[in-house]
Amino acid sequence: MPNMISDAKNLSVGLLKVPIDKAIESSAEQPKQIHYLNQAQRVELPEHHENAPLWNVPTNLIEALNSPLCMSLMPVAQRLFLWSFIYGVCPKRYLEIGTAAGGSAMIVNSAIQELGFHDFQGICVDPKFDTSPEVRQILNSNFKFFEEISSLAVMKQAVQQVGGLFDVVLVDGDHTYDYALADIILAIPFVSPGGYILVDDAGYFQVRDAIQYAVERFNLIDAGFMCRHITPMEKVHETPTAGIWKGESAFMSGLHILRKPL
Ligand SMILES: C[S@@+](CC[C@H](N)C(=O)[O-])C[C@H]1O[C@@H](n2cnc3c(N)ncnc32)[C@H](O)[C@@H]1O
Repeated sequence: MPNMISDAKNLSVGLLKVPIDKAIESSAEQPKQIHYLNQAQRVELPEHHENAPLWNVPTNLIEALNSPLCMSLMPVAQRLFLWSFIYGVCPKRYLEIGTAAGGSAMIVNSAIQELGFHDFQGICVDPKFDTSPEVRQILNSNFKFFEEISSLAVMKQAVQQVGGLFDVVLVDGDHTYDYALADIILAIPFVSPGGYILVDDAGYFQVRDAIQYAVERFNLIDAGFMCRHITPMEKVHETPTAGIWKGESAFMSGLHILRKPL
């Protein structure tokens, strides 16, 4: 039984850090090396230098967002977020369920190129790739393609292929409730501790409810509905007139972030 009175006292004297059981060291996630980015991207601080990439907006970011090759179905807020998220988190292993024309993979690839990582490994899972030869040629150097629907077997093969758990998994396959939930659950064992599961189209009610189910039943940190730019989708999905989603308007887009605890 927690001692509420002493906890409250500790809070009041600023000792919050001590009483939290199982608190993770605040240094747990700090990069161990200062040359986390490649050598060329280190700058003398705080002097400003016009060629210092730590201070300038990376050219790859602008190019990626404007390039037709990176034209994912995601609205610009999400594409900006995905690029910046990958650039910031610096994943070595990435998997996406649902690739279609390759827009999201191209965005990830662009951020990895900007980081200068040569040991990044990406996996794309999709039963029906729609990638152009140009996109495929660009992605081939960093990504392997599994032309099949998501399954436990394909996740196991993917982990074997890259030799370890994934730092980031993007779930963007079939958006019906059962499949979205199955894909989130499938990702859990294959994400590294502290790794992320990004769920696209979280604005769609079936995906939204799959996320909610997963958050309630599994030990995932709910980092929230990170990109809130959503668009109407009535043309594809009619508003249900019966059942649990009766009267719900269908929206697409919206990125929700889940995290596996460290
Ligand atoms: C919304 S698109 C993906 C878009 C892509 N992530 C992007 O942002 O550019 C959805 C894709 O998921 C694929 N898909 C559908 N069901 C799937 C499943 N069970 N496993 C893997 N991919 C699936 C479809 O073939 C389609 O290409």
